[in-house]
Amino acid sequence: MDKLVIRGQNLLAGPITVSGAKNAALPVMAASLLVSAPVRITNVPALKDVETMANLLRRLGADVRAEGDEYLIDASKLDGGDAPYELVRTMRASVLVLGPLLARFGKARVSLPGGCAIGTRPIDFHLKGLAAMGAEIGINGGYVEARTAGLKGAHIALEFPSVGATENIMMAAALADGTTVINNAAREPEICDLGNILRSMGAGVEGDGTGVVSVVGRRSLSGCHHRLIPDRLEAGTWLLLSLLTGCNMPVRGARRADIQALEAALFEAGVRIEEKAGALHAICPDRLKGTDVITQPHPGFPTDMQAQWMVLMCHAQGTSVIRETVFENRFQHVPELLRMGADITVRGNTAVVKGGSGLRGAPVMVSDLRAGIALVLAALSAEGVSEVRRIYHLDRGYERLVEKLSAVGADIRRVPQAG
Ligand code: UD1
Repeated sequence: MDKLVIRGQNLLAGPITVSGAKNAALPVMAASLLVSAPVRITNVPALKDVETMANLLRRLGADVRAEGDEYLIDASKLDGGDAPYELVRTMRASVLVLGPLLARFGKARVSLPGGCAIGTRPIDFHLKGLAAMGAEIGINGGYVEARTAGLKGAHIALEFPSVGATENIMMAAALADGTTVINNAAREPEICDLGNILRSMGAGVEGDGTGVVSVVGRRSLSGCHHRLIPDRLEAGTWLLLSLLTGCNMPVRGARRADIQALEAALFEAGVRIEEKAGALHAICPDRLKGTDVITQPHPGFPTDMQAQWMVLMCHAQGTSVIRETVFENRFQHVPELLRMGADITVRGNTAVVKGGSGLRGAPVMVSDLRAGIALVLAALSAEGVSEVRRIYHLDRGYERLVEKLSAVGADIRRVPQAG
């Protein structure tokens, strides 16, 4: 197991480029199971989660080849294998193969993911949606076993705009008989990216990016080429890092339209974003103001930026209140930030941050991906040296992290951790 050793408070300078979006890559790769022709995906980030999805597709019988940022997936010879616990357990997004497998083969056997660090995260909305389309679903030995004589288009209202459930249902609907309408659908940009590849495959998808998505199913779909959207969460993370380290780190390759809620919160905190020469610049304010945020499904403030926002607020003047409404247990970075000298009080789903007294280096432990990157931001903005442990979480979602940060002047090393 490796750890990161970070000496904080270097001024970071120079452009940093955003990779392809992890949360778009995973459903798009799963969608390649819908067709019996090669699907070429480009701008794929080199991440552990992408590798896990590739291994899962191989396990199901697909031929998956990767070269640089390009993946070629050929699912023509699928043999209907299982999505086993050892893979699904390490990555919840593995459940995204359920919809495509069921739609194409009339059966699927996928392990239940189990709990994770940020909450129980059930998949009941996925299963209810597929059942409404005519799947018979049972749970046996920790596995979801689904069967159908043929999926049929249905009207499905999600209780909550779940990203994964919207994606699973959209993929299943693309090969179903008739039209499926998803009400209260998730509106994340990654849903639109999935909509785009499904359209390229020939499915009739409309309304992606709004709360009502409709999908006209086809008897069969065709292979295609798809370029993934840039990672808006990585972009947001680097904008906050720039603010913490001298405001001289233009973020290249990001789409401003995807980070509107973050930009609005930054504006309230006194920060302006400028777009120049294809890069986003966070302009340093005279005074960074403590600013409240409430996490919400898109287009609200993303839960996947909550931990990083908290680090920024540790450096802001005044008090800020951060309320997490998407996941029930997503403040695991707080005890670690307290070890670095932060003043944060948590009550239920609300954290109150008293900013302005700075952070000091300390050994800290990563509990999940976004908590992990928040601790990296904290360490880069703290006085002295920090050791960030359990960084395998970071390998899941941030491509070439040490390389990218070193290139802009960070004092960061990855070293093996004894014991
Ligand atoms: C996706 C993202 C993740 C992000 C999250 C919310 C991917 C690969 N991951 O996760 O980075 O943090 O969206 O923006 O895209 N829920 C249920 N039943 C279900 C499904 C979800 O109760 O069947 C609940 C979850 O426990 C959670 C909430 O709904 O409280 C949102 O979850 P969801 O939008 O499904 O998140 P994921 O798709 O797992």
